[in-house]
Amino acid sequence: MNRINLIKPDDWHLHLRSGQIMKSVVGMSAAQMGRAIIMPNLTPPIKSARQAQAYCKEILKSLPTTSSFKPLMALYLTDNTTSKDIAEAVTTPEVYAAKLYPAGSTTNSDNGVTNIANIYSALEAMQKEGVPLLVHGEVTDPEVDVFDRESVFIEKILDRVVKDFPDLKIVLEHITTKDAVDYVIDCKNNLAATITPHHLLANRNHMLVGGIKPHYYCLPVLKRQNPDQKALLKAATSGNPKFFLGTDSAPHDREKKESACGCAGIFSAHAAIELYAEAFDGEGAIERLEGFASIFGPDFYGLPHNQEKITLEKSPWRVPDHYELAGSKLTPFFAGFELSWRLIS
Ligand code: NCD
Ligand code: ZN
Repeated sequence: MNRINLIKPDDWHLHLRSGQIMKSVVGMSAAQMGRAIIMPNLTPPIKSARQAQAYCKEILKSLPTTSSFKPLMALYLTDNTTSKDIAEAVTTPEVYAAKLYPAGSTTNSDNGVTNIANIYSALEAMQKEGVPLLVHGEVTDPEVDVFDRESVFIEKILDRVVKDFPDLKIVLEHITTKDAVDYVIDCKNNLAATITPHHLLANRNHMLVGGIKPHYYCLPVLKRQNPDQKALLKAATSGNPKFFLGTDSAPHDREKKESACGCAGIFSAHAAIELYAEAFDGEGAIERLEGFASIFGPDFYGLPHNQEKITLEKSPWRVPDHYELAGSKLTPFFAGFELSWRLIS
């Protein structure tokens, strides 16, 4: 197969930032994706429906009028989020979900939730109103090794939330471990997971062998090839609708990554669907890409599939070693490497 047609995909986990940075990157997602859930971890964070509405407007304004890309906004949950905030979100058409960042877990999570009990009334309202909870699934306990933080989160926190809110729709974002894959498969409730292209195509050896490679650093951090990366590849290509596309594409300028204290985040919006095609093709499962990229996500969110189609062709191209980012430079995932699939329309 040298050419495939797919329903246009959606990105269920995307960081666009704001201002000039957003303007530098939004077109890349808009060229590939029909819709994207836009992460609210700005400084300051998007905590209210009104802020989400304004942020959505800012994104739409920076797109050409011919673009049909639709940003789906998410609220940033804090210790002070109330059921009233959720009620406002429900009546705001731009808002589709709310995001749990455990405080201190990742980039711009300082205003996140310090104790899950603090958002129980918000979760109650979300369950009642059918608002999906999106989860950055890592504990922040300094005693817990950074490579174990997702597994411990599932055991100590997620499992409790799943049991206390049996009807709440939950997406465990950017899963990285076999533990997460197994938990999602076994869970009978409304639990799904997004998987990034970098967790499918890379493991911690890529980051740490032969010199430390800051452009492979993200959170949750890349794990082992065996069993974790292998379990993710198997889950994504299995056809199980609980697993769907979410790039976690996160723009950071080069200086902030190549630093004594480099920040977390990998940029993949320049070639998101091509990167996933690479991973699926590597598993001999290119025919399963459409379900993962274009069908299971909207089905979980209760939204229609996109009407448009895209075409991918097997014709190798080299990923540029940088893109411009608001007067600075950004190093994309796979920079300087060849990808076998190309988006042609
Ligand atoms: C994300 C970012 O840069 O905003 N970074 C990352 O490593 N994934 C935040 C997040 O999703 O954790
Ligand atoms: Zn993210």
